[in-house]
Amino acid sequence: MKKALILSVMVIFSLVAVGSVFAKPAKCPQPRKTKAAPGSIAKKDKTKKANAKNGKKIFMKTAKPMACKMCHGPKGDGGGKLGAALKPAPRNFTCAATMKKVSAGQMFHIIKNGSKGTGMVAHGKTLKDKEIWDVVKYIRTTFMK
Ligand code: HEC
Repeated sequence: MKKALILSVMVIFSLVAVGSVFAKPAKCPQPRKTKAAPGSIAKKDKTKKANAKNGKKIFMKTAKPMACKMCHGPKGDGGGKLGAALKPAPRNFTCAATMKKVSAGQMFHIIKNGSKGTGMVAHGKTLKDKEIWDVVKYIRTTFMK
């Protein structure tokens, strides 16, 4: 009886501990493994007419193979459930020191083509260009203010 109680308390404590490890925001400033996009693409910016609300849906829910928030975190700080296990860590969009070097076009290029040698997969087959601009706008207007 007593043993079972101790055991369940231990289980609860370890779940809480694991949960808080997962929820941790990524470092800031953050090292960047991702390569620069070609200059012509890096300078592109089609966020003006993009739909941030649709971008939010993609980030939080519908992106394939999984929602962006699983790695980048619901707060965009790199603290997603899978983020803690990844090396390099997912980008922390809330880190101004790192993100000031990352243009809208750069983000578009990496979301579309992925970042070799990291967990960032290409979404060019599952998202239309317009949808990628939507998610870029959502990230830039929500997490990078
Ligand atoms: C499996 C985990 C994972 C998922 C899912 C994921 N990312 Fe990433 N993302 C990463 C990692 C890892 C990096 C690279 C970090 C680095 O460069 O050091 C990254 C980098 C990025 C960058 C940074 C580009 C740069 O130049 O620094 C952007 C923008 C980005 N992701 C957007 C997204 C969007 C939008 C989605 C959803 C459509 C998404 N990611 C889904 C893990 C993920």
